[in-house]
Amino acid sequence: MIQHAPFIVIEGLEGAGKTTALSYIKAWLEAQKIEYIQTREPGGTPMAEQLRDLVKAIRENETVTPEAELLIMYASRIQLIENVIKPAQQKGIWVVGDRHDLSSRAYQGGGRGIADELIEPIRQAVLKGFEPDLTFYLDIPPEIGLSRARARGELDRIELEQMDFFSKTRAKYLEIANADDKIKIIDAQQTPTEVGQQIQNLLSEHFQHL
Ligand code: TMP
Repeated sequence: MIQHAPFIVIEGLEGAGKTTALSYIKAWLEAQKIEYIQTREPGGTPMAEQLRDLVKAIRENETVTPEAELLIMYASRIQLIENVIKPAQQKGIWVVGDRHDLSSRAYQGGGRGIADELIEPIRQAVLKGFEPDLTFYLDIPPEIGLSRARARGELDRIELEQMDFFSKTRAKYLEIANADDKIKIIDAQQTPTEVGQQIQNLLSEHFQHL
C-alpha cells in the first residue's frame, strides 16, 4: 500500500511529443477512474507562472547567467511542490507532471554545463529527497525534435539555443535515465500510438498493486 498518491512525470526535448504522451497517461488514469491533476514546470502556481515568463523571455540587453536560470527553475519547482503537488498527493489525488527536476539536471547541467558540485547541493537543499514515483523520458534526436517544435511556431529563449546545447542536454538525459530504474526511456521516434501503448503498459506494470 503506498502512503501518498503517485507523481508521474513526462520529460524530453522540445518536439519529443510530450503532449501526446500526456494524453495517453491521462487516458490510462481515466480508464481506472483515478482522480488526478496535471502540472507543468516551470510554472503551476501564480508565482511559478511569473517565473516561467521571466525565464522564457527573450532579452536583448542582458545575458541570463546559467546560475540565475538554475535558481529560477528551483524557486518555481519548490513553490509547485509545496503548494500543489504535496497537498494533492496527501488527498489521494495523483499528479501528472509536464517536466520536473530531471529537466534542470539535463538542461542546466548538460546543456548549460553547470557542474554537479553546484546542482547537487541545491537539489538536495531545496527538494529534500522529494522525487517522482515514475518518469518517462521521451528520447529524440534534437534535430528532429527541434524541427517539429519550430514548425509549431515562435520559439522562446531556451528553444533558440544552438544544436550543441540540445545534444548536450540529450546526452545528460540519457546518462541520468540509464542509471535510474524509476526513469523509463521511451523511443520517441515510434508512432504516437506505439509511444502511448508502451507508456500505458509500463504504467500497468509499475502500478499493478493498485
Ligand atoms: P516547455 O515546458 O514549454 O517545454 O518549456 C520549458 C522550457 O524550459 C524548455 O525549453 C525546457 C526548459 N527547462 C529548463 O531548462 N530547466 C528546467 O528545470 C525546466 C523545468 C524547463
